[in-house]
Amino acid sequence: MAVGVFDSGIGGLTVLDALQKRLPEVPFVYFGDNAHAPYGVRTADDIFNLTCAATERLWAEGCDLVILACNTASAAALKRMQETWLPADKRVLGVFVPLIEALTERQWGDNSPPREVAVKHVALFATPATVASRAFQRELAFRAIGVDVEAQPCGGVVDAIEQGDEILAEALVRSHVEALKRRMPHPQAAVLGCTHYPLVEKTFAEALGQGVKVYSQANLVAESLADYLQRRPEMLGQGTQSKFLTTGDPASVSSKATQFLRKGVVFQSA
Ligand code: DGL
Repeated sequence: MAVGVFDSGIGGLTVLDALQKRLPEVPFVYFGDNAHAPYGVRTADDIFNLTCAATERLWAEGCDLVILACNTASAAALKRMQETWLPADKRVLGVFVPLIEALTERQWGDNSPPREVAVKHVALFATPATVASRAFQRELAFRAIGVDVEAQPCGGVVDAIEQGDEILAEALVRSHVEALKRRMPHPQAAVLGCTHYPLVEKTFAEALGQGVKVYSQANLVAESLADYLQRRPEMLGQGTQSKFLTTGDPASVSSKATQFLRKGVVFQSA
């Protein structure tokens, strides 16, 4: 009864950690496409093809349900996968919708018409591909009216994290926050729209300053998966073993993951 968790690299481990805590009885198979990270500077076609290949690899592990723990794939590939590619007995879920439901004070799966919500000024930090897709604004517009979104494409941050360069990642975060604040000096909420960013969340929070509510996805995705599995228990696949797969070099990916998460993670070759 395993569930697959996919990311371009180690960022999705932030989501996996929350999933394991919320659903300790479920085995999760993690797939990091580290050989092709970062996705955030790739074309939509490229992201679609890579995400489909990774999803197929997770099916081979007995995971009929795959969580795209990657905003870039959720923004640039998920809709196309669901509409043109996915067989009827498989499911792929993204990480965007649970976050937007939380931001707009909705219950999971509440599809009622858009309405006014408390938050009016939202800063979105995400990869260049996620920002270019405008998927966040599209999903938000289905649920809320009158929300002003200022998006900052955070070039370089995922790359620095994947290289294990914490100092560079933090410096880039500070400069991206400054750039956004020049355009929106007083955001009420900030969305960390990339699953790598919780690994540098403290730097985001410090640079944003007090009074800005920072939304990151891990716990929201875990709650929404628990709710989904209650409604669709048949989507737990045949797999029985938790494991960590990577297209990159297992030793170096394991050491970076351990460095950022501050707990031991052992990857094997995909
Ligand atoms: N963690 C991915 C996301 O949530 C990073 C994408 C990338 O590889 O650039 O967007």
